[in-house]
Amino acid sequence: MEKSEKSVYVLPDHKAERQRTKSETLASYDLFKLSDSAASIGAGKKYYIRTYGCQANVRDGESMAGMLELMGFQRTFETDQADVLVFNTCAVRKAAEDHVLGEIGSLKPLKRNHPEKLFCLCGCMAQEETVVKEILRKYENIDVIFGTHNIYRLPDLIYKAMATGKRQVEVFSQEGQVIEGLPVRRTSPVKGFVNIMYGCDKFCTYCIVPYTRGRQRSRKAKDIIAEINALKESGAREVVLLGQNVNAYGKDIGMADGFASLLEECAGTGIERIRFYTSHPRDYTVSTIDVMARHENIMNSLHLPVQSGSDEILRRMARGYTADHYRELVDEMRARIPDITFTTDLIVGFPGETDEQFQDTLRLVDDCRFDMAYSFVYSPREGTPAASMQDEVDPRKKKDRLHILNERLAFHAAKKNSCYLGKTLKVLCEGKSKKNPDAYSGYSEENKLVNFSCPHDPTGEILDVTITSTHSFSLDGEAL
Ligand code: SAH
Ligand code: SF4
Ligand code: F3S
Repeated sequence: MEKSEKSVYVLPDHKAERQRTKSETLASYDLFKLSDSAASIGAGKKYYIRTYGCQANVRDGESMAGMLELMGFQRTFETDQADVLVFNTCAVRKAAEDHVLGEIGSLKPLKRNHPEKLFCLCGCMAQEETVVKEILRKYENIDVIFGTHNIYRLPDLIYKAMATGKRQVEVFSQEGQVIEGLPVRRTSPVKGFVNIMYGCDKFCTYCIVPYTRGRQRSRKAKDIIAEINALKESGAREVVLLGQNVNAYGKDIGMADGFASLLEECAGTGIERIRFYTSHPRDYTVSTIDVMARHENIMNSLHLPVQSGSDEILRRMARGYTADHYRELVDEMRARIPDITFTTDLIVGFPGETDEQFQDTLRLVDDCRFDMAYSFVYSPREGTPAASMQDEVDPRKKKDRLHILNERLAFHAAKKNSCYLGKTLKVLCEGKSKKNPDAYSGYSEENKLVNFSCPHDPTGEILDVTITSTHSFSLDGEAL
């Protein structure tokens, strides 16, 4: 079987990925069509999808699952049972990439023993020029590579790879239109992810996402609302609106303050719970806070990444706000919505970060008293401006700072959670608890993970749970 036919490869191009067009975002409703040949190729066969990274990837994985099932494939969670294996990857930090490459590497023997199995790589790593070149060189077990902008091409690429036995590589460096009408196989019947926008125009200097996901493209409100209504009809009780910077929603389709008006419309659907990820402090508007305060079905929890508490580091990250602006935003929201909870993302060891600047971050953490936070050691990403900044922080120092920061975050998280002892929270049960097979788990309105006992299986129900003990990252309770 001749595997390399380089002339047909469409490879990602980093330079093209940085370009931004100013034209208004258009939507395409009929780009996805299943050809007759692709429609029958999966009969009697199974697929396996492994998704890494953020919820944008999870939602993409659900569309891929939808397409694979239209092609007749059935899902399996075992790699050795699968005829098609899809690795939906994340590129945000080196550790994320190493994890993916390690897993794919460990599956080389599976491919060697079963050459008929088809291995596909997609997601953000597929958009990285040097990574794709390395994969083509070193991972002969990968048969199909496609990018984040052309997941609708999955059926054809799989069909071609199966029919010809030849490697298929098709990654677009430019995003094109918003693609509507892809099938979807949802992971959860209870909680549905809904993209409101794709891509990101913020270009924080450390971040690879604007390159791997392309320029910001907002979906039309009518398409978003239609998806929420469909979810509601199918029995979902919560929707999670997704975008890298939801507060900038609509800017590319001629809307001023688009997120506030979209949120209002979403609340009007009557779905019981609405959440949204991720918010950017710079684009947060007063009207968005107003809408949140007015609607009971918009959950009072906010993920608001701050990244650093040092103005100088924030400036060099190109975040577009100061630490005090962030503190004021948090204070203002707490004043308007008293029971609101806050989570954040933080990076330690950004190039040139001094001990004093790290102390600024700890001070901000103390001032904001986050309910929970994701903390990361800075990881240089090729082609981003920060990757060529001088003064790399000593790796040992980075690790020490992460440790100190995590202790501080856990302290505040435990303290915040202890306030819920004896209180009754409304929990949307998502199923059995991962930690304890005799308990159930779900999230409260405040976005607290609650493990609880209940005499019947309450999956899919929103129920009152009284908190009996509290930990740093979860609460335990009993259903009433
Ligand atoms: N769009 C979201 C976050 C996307 S990436 C936002 O702007 O908030 C999720 C988190 O990964 C970021 O908030 C940041 O804390 C972290 N991150 C991104 N690039 C990173 C890098 N190069 N090194 C370490 N952490 C990074
Ligand atoms: Fe990355 Fe910044 Fe965009 Fe978030 S807002 S995806 S951190 S560039
Ligand atoms: Fe990772 Fe891409 Fe999301 S880099 S965090 S999967 S947008």
